[in-house]
Amino acid sequence: TRPWHADAVERRLARCVTVDDVERLARRRVPGAVFDYVHSGAESEVSLARNRDAFADVELRPTAWDAVGDPDTSTTLLGRPAAAPIVLAPTGYSRLSHHTGERAVAAAAAYAGMPYTLSTYGTTSIGDVAEAAPTGRNWFQFYVMRDRAVTDQHLAEAREHGYEAVMITIDTTVTGLKRKDLRNGFAIPPQLTLRTFADMARHPGWVANILTTEPLRFATFPAGSPYGLWGMSNQHREQRLRPSDVTTIKEQFGGPVVVKGVLSLSDAVRSVDAGADAIVLSNHGGRQLDRSPVPLELLPQVVDAVGDRAEVYLDSGVRSGADVVAALALGARAVLIGRPYLYGLMVGGQRGVDRVLEILTSEMERTMSLVGVSRVDELRPEHVRLRRS
Ligand code: FNR
Repeated sequence: TRPWHADAVERRLARCVTVDDVERLARRRVPGAVFDYVHSGAESEVSLARNRDAFADVELRPTAWDAVGDPDTSTTLLGRPAAAPIVLAPTGYSRLSHHTGERAVAAAAAYAGMPYTLSTYGTTSIGDVAEAAPTGRNWFQFYVMRDRAVTDQHLAEAREHGYEAVMITIDTTVTGLKRKDLRNGFAIPPQLTLRTFADMARHPGWVANILTTEPLRFATFPAGSPYGLWGMSNQHREQRLRPSDVTTIKEQFGGPVVVKGVLSLSDAVRSVDAGADAIVLSNHGGRQLDRSPVPLELLPQVVDAVGDRAEVYLDSGVRSGADVVAALALGARAVLIGRPYLYGLMVGGQRGVDRVLEILTSEMERTMSLVGVSRVDELRPEHVRLRRS
């Protein structure tokens, strides 16, 4: 049965024209500390702002005489079809954004025909996500743990549940510091101060849902493991990753491996040399090393260096279909989105994520039409110019 407020949520979502509209609604739906956790960047938030500035600086240059109408956003990623060159990025703690969490996101991605990446710090298990999206293209992102038995377990489970690819994130030797989280007392378990209590009290529906669904924990780890939500900290993760880890993991998993968090030409080349099938240029949405390179600005030289040896994806700051088109014209095979789908999730669970994917796809179609291309592989460097360079 549909909850009584479902129609109101549908109406609100239908009125959203852009991802930014969804973000504005999301801000009101969850406790401020939860919204800030998702929305913020690391340290001075310089990278967070630069990611967006870079997209704003892209000029799109139409080739109108080539236009043939009916744009088709479909592509192939890692050799399999996708309805659009958009991958749902791994995000930890999705059940804080909405109690339906990772299940809802994976189901929305499957419905839209786009891959979904479950995070190591997901709050739903590898098996439960596979069950929620049996027809989906599910990928698993993992942080290599010092205790390699845990990594072995993750790889075995991902394979057993039909996950198509694994993604190794290399930019999190330590967790980036988001100042607002400290100021908000955003910690697990939450610090109960008058302020955090008042914040929760303003969102009774959210609190009730959290309390009445399965307990929040890092569900990709076995129940009762020391990696529950409370004990997780930097010291559990392997802080000395080497390219040879990519080679080993690929052999062990027996399927495609994606390396995420590449921010230099040399890391790109070394990842591919080690056997990565795809790399993700990413500064983690400005949440890790502040003042790191902007992925969009790094893209052309990395694409040149990698050639067709691996697919090159990009994330950090994608908020519209025009952003996707810009990244593709500069050579990306696909983009990943993080916060946009979490905002949708906050507003309306799976329906909210559906709406965000719908908005991005329709913006992409319109932009492709106006640029004068009918297929994504027709997007070329001549369709873009970076205005500041
Ligand atoms: C992330 N990201 C992330 N990445 C990763 O590899 N493992 C993880 O567990 C997480 N967790 C996470 C939580 C939250 C709340 C956010 C917003 C992001 C980074 C994510 O995969 C992606 O790189 C960025 O979100 C992309 O930038 P945008 O789309 O958010 O601007």
